[in-house]
Amino acid sequence: MIKYIGSKRRLVPQIGAMFSRMGAASALDLFAGTTRVAQELKRRGANVCAVDTARYSEVLAQCYIACDAAALDRRHLADAMDFLQGLQGEDGYFTETYCRRARFFQPSNGRKVDAIRNALDSVFSESALYPILLTSLIEAADRVDSTTGVQMAYLKKWAPRSYNELELRVPDLLSGRGVALRADATRVVALLPHVDFAYLDPPYNQHSYFSNYHVWETLVAWDRPVHYGVACKRLDCKEPSTRSVFNSKREIKAALQGVITELQADIVVLSYNDEAWMGLDELVELCAARGEVEVLSFESKRYVGAQIGIYNPVGDKVGRVSHVRNLEYLIVSGQAADVRRVAHAAAAPAVCPA
Ligand SMILES: C[S@@+](CC[C@H](N)C(=O)[O-])C[C@H]1O[C@@H](n2cnc3c(N)ncnc32)[C@H](O)[C@@H]1O
Repeated sequence: MIKYIGSKRRLVPQIGAMFSRMGAASALDLFAGTTRVAQELKRRGANVCAVDTARYSEVLAQCYIACDAAALDRRHLADAMDFLQGLQGEDGYFTETYCRRARFFQPSNGRKVDAIRNALDSVFSESALYPILLTSLIEAADRVDSTTGVQMAYLKKWAPRSYNELELRVPDLLSGRGVALRADATRVVALLPHVDFAYLDPPYNQHSYFSNYHVWETLVAWDRPVHYGVACKRLDCKEPSTRSVFNSKREIKAALQGVITELQADIVVLSYNDEAWMGLDELVELCAARGEVEVLSFESKRYVGAQIGIYNPVGDKVGRVSHVRNLEYLIVSGQAADVRRVAHAAAAPAVCPA
């Protein structure tokens, strides 16, 4: 899994437990990012739709969500991986831009990326394996990058991992059905079919994912964009069309309100953290349009779920706060009985990855 700011690695068991407690069959991850949450829901049997505006997120979703591992020709995949891994490195845009002008990767690895990415287009562009192989390349590059996890800058001194050789690995594919959609949540939400369970994890402040992960955008688009600045960001990072309304303090509330009210889902789970522009009370008020609301908070270190607030359908608090030092929140909304059932599942202590 790639390094991704705001990725919900630690909340995955709780969100998965909520889905299972609902006895749900269909699910939506509307701001899917790494697709980590969508993957967990698929693992638990959901027919998942993963939506995001990012090109790389769509590729990850095509690989992990849309592809059915049970229907895949493993031998064919292994042969393709061997072929790509065996290619000689070659100089190209990626090496020149991200390894010489900027220093996101060692040139020897950049040359491998150039060669593999070119071969993906020339040999595999029509193949069902394409998103799986491209995901493998993105993840391989991520393992040998020289950043702190965002691509606004690279480290002054090469990261130790950057000296490792780029190695393609077969992604951990999942059996089952799903859909990958590259779309703006605010535009697509009204067109999406009803789901039992929806998870929303939008950006909540000025940090643009398009700029933060511009190298992955370019690796997928493979369009040799004009770039600017020390980090060699794509020129279109400056264009309004690549900005999310969720990165605008002025627009975020209306955008979120639109999404929350238009979504057709029995249960909506909204992620929130304390770096957000919007306050918890404002979000609870928005979610109250869907019925009862419960807020669950998760302490970052011990990671024990705690139910901190119960709100009635008009947003008045009717429950008691039991924890105050928490960092991550899940705001659950829907019909009262469903909300209680689901919130109870997540509040139970869960075994979490370290
Ligand atoms: C907090 S991250 C989601 C992280 C994800 N839950 C994970 O665990 O990897 C927010 C995501 O919203 C996406 N995004 C931003 N604006 C969007 C929009 N208008 N519609 C859909 N996705 C959007 C970003 O590309 C980013 O991947």
